[in-house]
Amino acid sequence: MNRLILLCLILAGYVAVQAKTLVVYYSYTNNVNRIVAELTKQIEADVIRVQPAEKGVDYAANNYAIGSAQISAIRNKPNDASSYPAIDSVKVNLAEYDCVIIGAPLWWSNMAAPLQTFLLHHGKDMAGKKIGLIVSSASSGISGVESDAKRLIPKGDFMSPSLWIRSSQTSNAASMVSNWLKAIGYDNISGINDPASDAQNEKILGIFNLSGQPISDKDHATNGIYIVQYINGNRINTKKVAIR
Ligand SMILES: Cc1cc2nc3c(=O)[nH]c(=O)nc-3n(C[C@H](O)[C@H](O)[C@H](O)COP(=O)(O)O)c2cc1C
Repeated sequence: MNRLILLCLILAGYVAVQAKTLVVYYSYTNNVNRIVAELTKQIEADVIRVQPAEKGVDYAANNYAIGSAQISAIRNKPNDASSYPAIDSVKVNLAEYDCVIIGAPLWWSNMAAPLQTFLLHHGKDMAGKKIGLIVSSASSGISGVESDAKRLIPKGDFMSPSLWIRSSQTSNAASMVSNWLKAIGYDNISGINDPASDAQNEKILGIFNLSGQPISDKDHATNGIYIVQYINGNRINTKKVAIR
């Protein structure tokens, strides 16, 4: 029956829907900015750079006093929106994305405050999405930043491991990012980077609606988005298909 459905999909003119990735980051001294530049040479993604609303602030002055005060305010009242520093408003429709990669500087063992503000506003809209986390710190371990991300994106589907790049390793970002993308199986995420030209080597295993139910004969003509599970060589994968 799957072959019959596949034939119908082809006759109906199906279009593979590429999964989309959003990269969102903040960077004060540009280390994360450089990491994101390497990342976006390796993957296709839309990119948002979070900007604090208050301009020209020297977060490094007086032993990082301002950043320290911002982190303390969030730690004291994490559920109070007024604890978070204002950022420039960002227009983003998270429904467009299957995967979100967050690039975060570490501040006092936590996620840099302006990025926490962005996630406070938008993290709930990332429910069910694949979430990747890249953290830059001078030397401190990143578990506090991972906890912040999980608190602010409570229903995110976090990919493991996170990538930790120390400031001194920023110039190695290209190879560290490349190895990390392999470690999290980035290419296998819902057809991301799935080469359409390889379609002739794919054997369809099943076709499902977005609730995960196999579609029956009478459903196959309905316009909409379906998930096709297929095997290519020894790799089982899925991709979204739109019937129009
Ligand atoms: C306010 C503030 C607090 C920081 N606290 C720490 C810290 O506790 N431990 C650490 O290893 N690095 C700390 N850093 C250093 C940054 O994590 C590091 O320089 C990182 O690479 C910055 O990323 P960016 O250049 O993208 O802003 C701090 C930096 C700032 C500005």
